[in-house]
Formats: sequence, structure tokens, C-alpha cells
Amino acid sequence: MNDDTLHAIATAPDLRELQALRVRLLGKKGELTEGLKSLGALPPEERRARGAALHERKRAVEAALEARKAALERAALDARLAAERLDLTLPGERVPAGAHHLLTQVTNRLLDVFASLGYEVVVGPELEDDRHNFGALNFPPDHPARDTQDTFWTTDGRLLRTHTSPMQVRYMESHEPPFRVVVPGRVFRNEAVDATHEAQFHQLEALVVGERITMADLKGAITEMATALLGSGTRTRLLPTYFPFVEPGAEFAIWWQHPKTGREEWLELGGCGMVHPRVFEAVGYEGVTGFAFGFGIERLAMVSYQVSDIRDLFRGDLRLLEQFRGVA
Ligand code: PHE
Repeated sequence: MNDDTLHAIATAPDLRELQALRVRLLGKKGELTEGLKSLGALPPEERRARGAALHERKRAVEAALEARKAALERAALDARLAAERLDLTLPGERVPAGAHHLLTQVTNRLLDVFASLGYEVVVGPELEDDRHNFGALNFPPDHPARDTQDTFWTTDGRLLRTHTSPMQVRYMESHEPPFRVVVPGRVFRNEAVDATHEAQFHQLEALVVGERITMADLKGAITEMATALLGSGTRTRLLPTYFPFVEPGAEFAIWWQHPKTGREEWLELGGCGMVHPRVFEAVGYEGVTGFAFGFGIERLAMVSYQVSDIRDLFRGDLRLLEQFRGVA
């Protein structure tokens, strides 16, 4: 053994080579190990001198192995750090952020208003049956709304709900009064599609039932909604009209300034009224009164944000999301 050995250790190219050297020198059958083992065969004086030299040599080899190992490990770490180096000054990759559809925004805004007034938000099925969509809502059997002109029927006699009012019936069938609920959802009508008519649109329905609920409460609820949307002092109007499931029934409007023309005018929103006794009868309620109202979300969204063609709301065109990002 000579200093070529120490040189070989100091220049071992990697940890594997270094380990091979360690085995060759210090392993069970390593050169130094064998040398130390053979000491026993020597005469005592010679053994002492030779032993001291071998131990000295062993320490030097061990120190060299350790030093090289540390150096190789540090170099490996440096290389890894260099490879993983992150330049925090590079411009990031732009991740396109999603956005809520205009209708979703307007719906959420409305739901926030009603949640703050203590209403529970519930949803119902879009595929309905005749009883919930019509029968229990006091539609006469020959009512034109059941006509194939308006309603999409399935071949097994069910239908796509034509309004969110069937959820009035479903909710009352499974809950006891008093309560306040709002029902957002998609509805379907077999309409000739044009700029203001779609075969699918969305409504928001409200139903409040309890003891001594009156028309004043109905007017108050609509005014609260209008105030939350448009500010305090907003006026609302109820005009008598007919829906089979309310009595008296009315259409309601809010007084507002049209965002485009700047003119102050009534914005007709939807229908409302006091829940018809026959509806309560159909769900087995007694001794309570209640009110309901429902209106189209598209119309409110379109006039508020000047969307002139309802079909644009359903085209899936990303430009609509971009144009109305975070407006409501
Ligand atoms: N469901 C009615 C419609 O779609 C609106 C309405 C709801 C009317 C609740 C009165 C009470 O036209």
C-alpha cells in the first residue's frame, strides 16, 4: 500500500467507487484487515512496530474515506440544488381564473338577500309529475298550460317542470309550518325560441306559511327584496291577476330606472299571491295562511345588465363569462 491508495480515495469519482475502495481496504478480506490479522504470526517486537504502523495507516485511510465521502455528498447536494433552483423573478404562468355565469351571480345575489331575511334555500327536481306541477296547484284538468304547446312531456307521462311552484307542494308535503323558503331552479316551456323566449329559463320561488300571514307580509317581502337589490325607498306594485294556486293573485313590479334608457318605469317581475286554500288542502294543512311569489331570473339579469338576446345566456360562449365577470 502506498499513497496511490490515498490518492485513489481522494479522487474517487462517486460514492460507489468509494465504497468499492473501502471494501478492498477495510472489508472482511480487505488489504488492511488481512495485514492486521497476520500480526499474530509475527515475533513480539516486530509485531509492535508493524502493528503501530498498520493502525496508523488504517486511521489515515478511514479519514481519507470520510473526507471523500463528505466531499462527494456535498457535491451531489450542490448539483441537486442547482438543478432545482427556482428563479422567483421569472414571470409566472398565467392560470385562467374561472368565473360565475351571469345567471349564477344574479341568483346568488338574490339568495343572499333571502338568506339574510331568514329564508331557507331548497331545490327540487326538474323532472316532475302532473300532480306536483299542476294538479295539487289547483290547475283545472283542461288548463291550457298542460297543453303540449307549453309543456315538455316524457313518454311515461311525466314532464319537465314549467315553473318552480311544484316545489311549494313538495316542501309542504314533507314539512310542517311555519317556514320561509326560496327555491331557485331551471324550468322548461315548449316555446318558439327568439330573443326574449327560451325553452329553458330560471325562476326564483318564495313560499312563506304560518299563522296569520297576510298580503301585507307578501308586499313587505317583495319590497324588502327590491330594497336589497336597488336601495332603500324602492317602490313595488301589485296588480290583480289570476294564477290557479293563489287567491288573491297578483303580478308584481318594482319601480326602477332603466339602466339603458335612464327612464323611470315599472319593471314587471313575476307572479304572487296568497296560497289558495285548495293547495293547503292538497298537502293536508289546516289553520294556516301563506304567500308565494315567483319570477324569472333571466329577465331581471337581462334588463339589469343589458343582455339583449336571451339565447346569449345559453350559448356557452366564454365571452359572456368574461364580459360579466363579477358584476352582480
Ligand atoms: N309559477 C308562476 C309562473 O311561473 C309564478 C307564481 C309563483 C305566481 C308563485 C304566483 C305565486 O308564472
